[in-house]
Amino acid sequence: MEPINTRIWQLHQDGESNRQAIAEAAVMLKNGKTVAFPTETVYGLGADARNPDAVAKIFQAKGRPSDNPLIVHIASSSQLLPLVEPWGALADQLMKRFWPGPLTIVLPVKEGAVSHLVTAGLDTLGVRMPQHETALRLIEASGCPIAAPSANRSGRPSPTLAEHVAEDLSGSIDGLVDGGAAGVGLESTVVEIAQGPSGEAIRILRPGGISREALQEIGTVLEEDDAASPPGAEAAPRSPGMKYKHYAPRGSVRVVDGEPERVQRHIRRELAAARIRGERTGVLAFDEHTHNYEADLVISCGSLSDLESAARGLYAALREFDTRNIDLIWAEACKTEGIGEALMNRLLKAASNQVQLV
Ligand code: TXA
Ligand code: MG
Repeated sequence: MEPINTRIWQLHQDGESNRQAIAEAAVMLKNGKTVAFPTETVYGLGADARNPDAVAKIFQAKGRPSDNPLIVHIASSSQLLPLVEPWGALADQLMKRFWPGPLTIVLPVKEGAVSHLVTAGLDTLGVRMPQHETALRLIEASGCPIAAPSANRSGRPSPTLAEHVAEDLSGSIDGLVDGGAAGVGLESTVVEIAQGPSGEAIRILRPGGISREALQEIGTVLEEDDAASPPGAEAAPRSPGMKYKHYAPRGSVRVVDGEPERVQRHIRRELAAARIRGERTGVLAFDEHTHNYEADLVISCGSLSDLESAARGLYAALREFDTRNIDLIWAEACKTEGIGEALMNRLLKAASNQVQLV
C-alpha cells in the first residue's frame, strides 16, 4: 500500500482554531475518508458507517479481520432511529442512564442502515454515544453515523494518546485529531439485551468503562453461567472481537495472582532467574509495590487504591514495554470490582490468559 499523507490537527485551549479543525475533519469524514479522534475511552478510527469504501479503509488500515464488527458512534438520539429496530424498555433505561458515556448497546440493525462491513454479517449493531466534546462535535458536524474501532493496528494495545495512533497508523489513515489524553483508558462496556429468568436482562459481552455494579443498578445482569450457550449451540462468541488475541505487547506477559506478599516474592524469584538467562525483564506493578522489584523496566500504572488511574495508564505501559524491547513481563493482578473487572480482562488478554496463581 502506498503511504498516504495523514493530516494532523492539534487542538488547543483556544476555541476558534478548534472549530476550524473539527470542521475540516468532519468534511473528510463526509467525503469517505478515515479520521482518528479522541473519545472518553480510547482513540477511535472513524469513517462514515453507511459508506462501504470508507469502512473498508478502516479494516485495511488496522489490518482487522473482516469478521469483527465495528461500533457505530452517534452524537444525538435522533441519529439512532434510522440505524436500529425499535428497542425495548431496558435498552431505553440504559441509554438514559449511561449516554453519553462508555457503554455500547448491541441492538437489532435496520436492514440497509449501515454497510455490511460494519456489522460483519451479523443482524445486530453495536451503538454508543461518546462522552467527549470533540468526538460529539465531530460526529455532529459530519452528519454521519461514525463507525469507529479503537485506532490501533489490530493486536496492538489501544491508543490513549494521539502519539499512539500516529505510531501505529500514520501513513495509513487520512486524518488524526489530537485532543490530548483519552479519558477512561479502556474501551466501552459492550452489552446486549437478553431474555433472563424474569424478563429482559443485560448480558455483558465485553467489560469496560461502565462497571457491572453500575449496570446492576438498572437491571439484572446475567452471570457467566446464565450467559453460556446451551449445549449444541453454535460455538461462535457473541462478541466476535473477544476471540482474538488483543492488546498484546511484543514481549510475553504473565499475570501473577494471589496474596500480595506471595505475588511479590514469586515475581522477584522469576526476575532473578530470567536475568541469569540474559532476558530483558519488565514488571507492571502497583505504586505500593514498585520499590520491591529490580528489572530492566518497572512501570506502575497507578495505585491499588485508585484502579481508575491504573486503567488510564495500562495501555501506555504495555506500549512502553515494547519500546524498550522487554522480553518477559510480569504483571500484578488486581481485584475485579468496578473498573478492576475490565482492567483484569485486558491484562489477561495481553497475557494470552497466562496466569500464575501463587
Ligand atoms: O470504547 C470503545 O468502545 C472504542 C471507542 C473508539 O469507542 N471502540 C472500540 O472498538 O473498542 P473495537 O472495534 O476496538 O471493539 C469493538 C468490540 C469488538 O469486540 C467487537 O467484536 C464488538 O465490540 N462488537 C461490535 N459490534 C458488535 C455486535 N453487533 N455484536 C457483538 N459484538 C460487537
Ligand atoms: Mg479494539
